[in-house]
Amino acid sequence: MEKIVINGGKPLFGEVSVSGAKNAAVAIIPAVVLCDEPCRIENIPNISDVTLIATILKEMGAIVKRVNKSTLDIDPRPINTYEAIGDNVRGMRASYYLLGALLGRFHNAKVALPGGCNFGVRPIDQHLRGFALMGAENELINGAIIHSTTKGSFHGAHIYFDTVSVGSTMNIILAAVKAEGQTIIENAAKEPHIVDLANFLNSMGANIRGAGTDVIKIRGVEYLHGVTYSIIPDQIEAGTYMAAAAATRGKITVRNITPKHLDSITAKLREMGVDIEEYDEAVVVDATKRPLSRVNIKTMPHPGFPTDCQPQFVAALTTVKGTSIVNESVWDNRYQYVNELVRMGATISVEGRLAIIEGGTQLTAAPVRATDLRAGAAMIIAALVADGITYISDINYIERGYSDVVNKFKALGADIEKIYIPDNEEVLTTA
Ligand code: EPU
Repeated sequence: MEKIVINGGKPLFGEVSVSGAKNAAVAIIPAVVLCDEPCRIENIPNISDVTLIATILKEMGAIVKRVNKSTLDIDPRPINTYEAIGDNVRGMRASYYLLGALLGRFHNAKVALPGGCNFGVRPIDQHLRGFALMGAENELINGAIIHSTTKGSFHGAHIYFDTVSVGSTMNIILAAVKAEGQTIIENAAKEPHIVDLANFLNSMGANIRGAGTDVIKIRGVEYLHGVTYSIIPDQIEAGTYMAAAAATRGKITVRNITPKHLDSITAKLREMGVDIEEYDEAVVVDATKRPLSRVNIKTMPHPGFPTDCQPQFVAALTTVKGTSIVNESVWDNRYQYVNELVRMGATISVEGRLAIIEGGTQLTAAPVRATDLRAGAAMIIAALVADGITYISDINYIERGYSDVVNKFKALGADIEKIYIPDNEEVLTTA
């Protein structure tokens, strides 16, 4: 079993460079299925979710070549199946983008139901309702595979989402890009990765307007040509390092970012008393100037505070004196990691969607688990401030979404290692 081991207590100082955005990459790579020529995708994060989606495309017949650590060449022309039902597909949430992409290309898609991080019910009813309005029939086979197919034409439609959903918005964009006529998505999600997907598709010749607003209009086109495209920086990875700098009372420069995408995170850190200087593609986060203050946070779809930074900020708020209240309004069960923080000495109570944090007591090391990707990031932050050596297990979750996480924290001065421990060996912490 691999674990991350952290000897806490050292403030972070130095520079970190953020990788390409996971949640853009896992949509843009399947989007290549729609292209009529090969594509080169740059600034791809080196994470297991990307390896998985690239492997799935390869299994379907695409020619996928890694040019370097962050660049993939993908030739989608040899793909000769509309089925993606293997174990790899089940292993990740974003495999649902294959539904939209395959429907767009073959007017037929058979895709295993997505897995991914488990924090409560994660329905895809809005995706399927959108496909249905466009002329697809959706069938659930054995409770495990969705088959969406068209008997008549696959055409544009006017779709009003019941809920603001990143996945549904991206999936309908994928399905609509080559569908007959115009699709209008109302109540669309506005995350930077939605704009990135639209920019990628438009650079290939698609006709998508309004991405980044809550009304997106897509006029179907017949042909998409190959392009070289660079994925946007990962706002959540950036937010994670910013929260870690605040928690440890350090001062770091976060490079290769788009400061505008971080507005809600920057605003919250400033409210806590952290100094933030913004540059064109970097921010300097300085938490050394004054004692930090408690804050309340409510997660919301973009441009609100991102749910994917919620656990990291809860970990940071355990270090701040006073009562902070966090309201998770996007997911119904994203506090499973709180028990792990409590085992480290945090005082947090969860009531429904609220987490009430009584901050300011020193955390102590404990063996903890990454209960999901961002929960794992929260464990790293807690371990960085804890007294003693923390062992974090289930780090495969962390590696789904964070490129080179151990080396990046090490470069910031953290005492952090990844180790291999045989399953039958006990690990004791020195708290
Ligand atoms: N929802 C529905 N029906 C649907 C789809 C969503 O009710 O058909 C609900 C969900 O249950 C949830 C809310 O709508 O309560 C938002 O879900 P959304 O569809 O926006 O989430 P997602 O597309 O499945 C993506 C990210 C998540 C991130 C959310 C919210 C990917 C692969 N995943 O998930 O990222 O939390 O958007 O921003 O893009 C992560 O990176 O750690 C992660 C979990």
